[in-house]
Amino acid sequence: MRALFPNLPVKDFPNAVSKTTNHNGPHQMHLLPQYGYPWTWAPNRTMGFTWADLRGKRVLDVGCASGFLSFSAEAAGASEVFSFDMDSAIRQHKLPFKNGLYFSNFEEWVRQQGAWIETWKNAYWLAHSRLNSHAKVFYGDVYDITREYGQFDVTFVGSILEHLSDPIRALASISKVTRETLAITTPALHTEDPIARFVGDQDKPTVDFVFWVYSIGIYRHVLGMLGFKILNVKRPSFFYEIDKREVEATTIVAERS
Ligand SMILES: C[S@@+](CC[C@H](N)C(=O)[O-])C[C@H]1O[C@@H](n2cnc3c(N)ncnc32)[C@H](O)[C@@H]1O
Repeated sequence: MRALFPNLPVKDFPNAVSKTTNHNGPHQMHLLPQYGYPWTWAPNRTMGFTWADLRGKRVLDVGCASGFLSFSAEAAGASEVFSFDMDSAIRQHKLPFKNGLYFSNFEEWVRQQGAWIETWKNAYWLAHSRLNSHAKVFYGDVYDITREYGQFDVTFVGSILEHLSDPIRALASISKVTRETLAITTPALHTEDPIARFVGDQDKPTVDFVFWVYSIGIYRHVLGMLGFKILNVKRPSFFYEIDKREVEATTIVAERS
């Protein structure tokens, strides 16, 4: 809830947020880097999901970052939107490169990463105020999402699973607060073989933030275990602002069976 972060300073900047409508989504948000990470690519990733389906729904946005999906859900007519992200950098996982700060001095890494994460939260609250959003926010650990805010009709899981060392445990936690529909956007191997690819590379210490790419087969089994059935799998590609390149991200939409 907002009250959990009552003193978070929301810096102002006249052009930090702009609203547009295009075929990718109800609006697009531009945030300058000092106000948060410019995740302007998020809208395209929900192409596997029909925004019209959100009318009257209670929506949870897991790993909301600067909030694009939350605000889009609100604009698409969701009756109530909750945004969720980590409460502390301690929650974040990285690959264990021995010379990296994360491995060699975790305390200092948490301090630096925590300051960086505050800019994302700041970006969220700036957009929240500029868009006159009514979205509610809570922070915690994706592996242990509180159930005190009840069940959600639709839960977005946008580009978080690939950053976790244990995505299955995270999905289990997410499933406990999801009544109806899960919309998961993440890289995937398009095979029914239940296999995973490890993305880490010992020669690329700067790429320490992605762990696993799972196959659709794994998702089918894990979602089945959790009581969900995959409805559709889409593979939209979109322009990734940060790297200035086209990338593909799979969206899996699953419903309670
Ligand atoms: C790449 S961003 C995705 C942003 C947005 N959902 C999108 O689709 O553009 C991943 C988000 O997951 C959050 N996250 C990572 N690990 C987490 C954890 N253990 N608990 C809660 N949130 C976590 C990060 O803080 C970050 O906001």
